[in-house]
Amino acid sequence: MRVRVPGDKSLTQRALILAALADGESRLSGLLHGGDAESTAGALRALGVSIPTLPMDGSELRIQGVGLRGLRSPVDGLDLGNSGTGTRLLLGVLAGSDVTAVVSGDDSLRARPMTRVTDPLAKMGAGFDFLDGLGRLPVGVAGTHPLRSLDWPSPIASAQVKSSILLAGLTGGAIVLITEPRQSRDHTERLLTQVGVSVISHTVEGGWRVEMRDPPRRIDPLDFAVPGDASSAAFVLALGALRGEEGAAITVERVGLNPTRIAFLDVLERMGARVHVELTSGSDDAEPWGDVTVTAGGLRGTTVSGSEVPRLIDELPLVAVLGARADGVTRIAGAAELRTKESDRIAALVSNLRALGVEVEELEDGLIVQGTDRPLTGSVQSFDDHRISMAFGVLASSTSCEIEIDDRSVANVSFPGFWSLLDRLDRSESTA
Ligand code: S3P
Repeated sequence: MRVRVPGDKSLTQRALILAALADGESRLSGLLHGGDAESTAGALRALGVSIPTLPMDGSELRIQGVGLRGLRSPVDGLDLGNSGTGTRLLLGVLAGSDVTAVVSGDDSLRARPMTRVTDPLAKMGAGFDFLDGLGRLPVGVAGTHPLRSLDWPSPIASAQVKSSILLAGLTGGAIVLITEPRQSRDHTERLLTQVGVSVISHTVEGGWRVEMRDPPRRIDPLDFAVPGDASSAAFVLALGALRGEEGAAITVERVGLNPTRIAFLDVLERMGARVHVELTSGSDDAEPWGDVTVTAGGLRGTTVSGSEVPRLIDELPLVAVLGARADGVTRIAGAAELRTKESDRIAALVSNLRALGVEVEELEDGLIVQGTDRPLTGSVQSFDDHRISMAFGVLASSTSCEIEIDDRSVANVSFPGFWSLLDRLDRSESTA
């Protein structure tokens, strides 16, 4: 069976932001129309950018940019809903703009750490006032222009931190240099290059270095087709891997294949699934994309740690649920960042897997799952987290599992249509 998944969440939000800041009209297609994209689009509208309704079908959207200095202070607070990426990227944009704003979000977002971006942005000269005093939203932002240049050693491999600083350098006209311990996803660097900004990246001792040494006064409009989200495709591919050996192959078409995002495919192969990747994008495309096909094999446990972690950080819940159905032990380590996502994903996975009778050990920076082929039955919670809800949805669809999930609606932030696609794949399996 061949399917498509919604547009990439990371790229959609970056494309909307750069289109808003460009001189001229950008043409974007394939955008995600899920909750996180709506949150970022809504915040940009409140900042004075005219952004039409995001199309449901991925068709072209034209955005007239206001330029790097064109944002206005919003009348009301900016509500970023559930979107950590939208929030952290916009904090960077606002830091270098002549605006003041209060940024907030839903309960899950208000529990997430923000000082990882406000510390470097404050060093550049922006003002932040945490209204609860604890480094969590809501935060008052006083943008400043120009900002001071910054050379930031980020203690974590985070694309949100790196992108926030790059965007502050862009609106604040400041040179920015960032070193991260391992390379995180590089979408911002690629799209900045696409709109005419020189960004150089290279390995250095102790990590990965990104340099924007020549901040421009203006950026070109963006002409960009957003590929399907590799992290959303991962749910479908994981289902393919979980279907017994006689299960039919599943192909996800036109999905993003950025090398900083697809370590999950390597893990699927290591666990015993057969994975075939066909790159179909052209060499001029800012982001690579193509078709990925998975056919099930008997699954075996694996270890995920080290530099692989940032390249599949959002897929780790899926690795854990696949581990529950694999032969042997699956170990995830070096992934303490999982505790700062839409939920504490280590705690959420441990609690849900235990509720199903799976043996699991909690680590400070990961978890160890003992695979089993016993029937798995019970109720699990989504913890307000789209990826937790969908990962257990995938497990629930596999053989010998009777699993109740308390909240399925959270999937909408990144993958509208997930549950109906899952039903469709289930039905195709039973008629295969
Ligand atoms: C994202 C970066 C990752 C990822 C998130 C999206 C991005 O977060 O988990 O879903 O679009 O930059 P971190 O940067 O915190 O690792």
